[in-house]
Amino acid sequence: MWGGRFSTKPADLMQAINVSIGFDRRLAHQDLAGSRAHAAMLAAVGVLTSADEREIQRGLDQIEAEIIGETFPFREEFEDIHMNVEARLRELIGPVSGRLHTARSRNDQVALDVRLWVREACERSIDQLRALQNSLLIQAEKNADVLMPGFTHLQPAQPVTFGHHLMAYVEMFGRDADRFADARRRMNECPLGAAALAGSPFPIDREATAKALGFDRPTANSMDSVAARDFALEAMSNAAISAVHLSRLAEEIVIWSTPQFGFVSLSDAFTTGSSIMPQKRNPDAAELVRAKAGRLLGALSALLVVMKGLPLTYSKDMQEDKEPLFDSFDGLELALSAMTGMIGDLVANREAMRAAAGRGFSTATDLADWLVRVLDLPFRDAHHVTGAIVKQAELKGQDLWELPLEMLQRIEPRITAEIFEVLSVEASVDSRTSYGGTAPMQVHAQIARWRSQLSAS
Ligand code: ARG
Repeated sequence: MWGGRFSTKPADLMQAINVSIGFDRRLAHQDLAGSRAHAAMLAAVGVLTSADEREIQRGLDQIEAEIIGETFPFREEFEDIHMNVEARLRELIGPVSGRLHTARSRNDQVALDVRLWVREACERSIDQLRALQNSLLIQAEKNADVLMPGFTHLQPAQPVTFGHHLMAYVEMFGRDADRFADARRRMNECPLGAAALAGSPFPIDREATAKALGFDRPTANSMDSVAARDFALEAMSNAAISAVHLSRLAEEIVIWSTPQFGFVSLSDAFTTGSSIMPQKRNPDAAELVRAKAGRLLGALSALLVVMKGLPLTYSKDMQEDKEPLFDSFDGLELALSAMTGMIGDLVANREAMRAAAGRGFSTATDLADWLVRVLDLPFRDAHHVTGAIVKQAELKGQDLWELPLEMLQRIEPRITAEIFEVLSVEASVDSRTSYGGTAPMQVHAQIARWRSQLSAS
């Protein structure tokens, strides 16, 4: 492509380090879309004759067909996707193909292709997050009044419902989807026409190409257009955050499905056996979802470090954006699908959860709250009294609701039998009716809110 200036071929090692077709072939469709819009615009402003444009479009159509039919010859000697398409176009339509590169550079071309790819990746992620939310909503509804321990420090804290616990993830994945929508909105500006870095002397119509490619407007600075990759970093950050959320849910599924917890059963579809231990049901899918977060975080930091300190504008370093970018979204998409499948199939073991919900003096806060409400104790004093009661219960190996009233009264004489009404797990959960609380009526209200929100979007 630049034979005029050079007298010898690049070294084999130069080709080895330079070549990107092995991975940027994934940008073929984006590259063709950009070329089509560019050619149409050049014709509209009179830089290309309409006959030449027709030839170019015909060649591009044929290339598209070859790519779809998997007959397109991806060749390493042409380095990257842009030059592979250009070389093939020349084979198909001859020298007129060379006119397509008027008022364009690979710098704005690659900036465009990556932007189009990231925009689609954001859209796919949003759709997948919505599907996962729907799957969680169905389970939350089924389990809106299933009691389970709520944990802090993975120690029993206060009883909650399983539905409420699942709805916590509906909130997280909802914010993840919003973050992708926000990133998409911010990045939706077209860099095509920035050319190498300074813009073009040809009378190009950047508004037209922006519009044709579904962008809100052209980018406003040609140097920024070819130098920026923060749109990719932002999308990858969002992906990493979402992967972290997925890893937390995955970790809980791993814990919940142990025989020791026995809170949930995973379907055969999402577990594996052991080649030596016949009793095993391993939550491999959950473990791999948990592990994907590591990969996504690695990919994000890889690209952050590649971009750090790069002088404006384009540097070849930026070719290293693609593999971490693709790896992030491949990982995220797989993790989201696997999690959606696992959640859909998950069966809650109500009895095991209910039994665990009462363990560990989980209604101790309810006892303290009663002392505040009924006896008007300052909360700190109530906390102290409750601590003493818990200590007694622990010594006796009894639950709070099993303690004799006289024993409670030895610690705080004004306690009455009424206190037993708040010590059960059911009463504890039912009482938490504050907005966003775990009482089943609140959980149902949040499920209804999300359902109408998701069906409106
Ligand atoms: N393959 C290159 C990349 O991915 C395309 C841009 C090359 N531009 C250049 N001036 N060498 O970044």
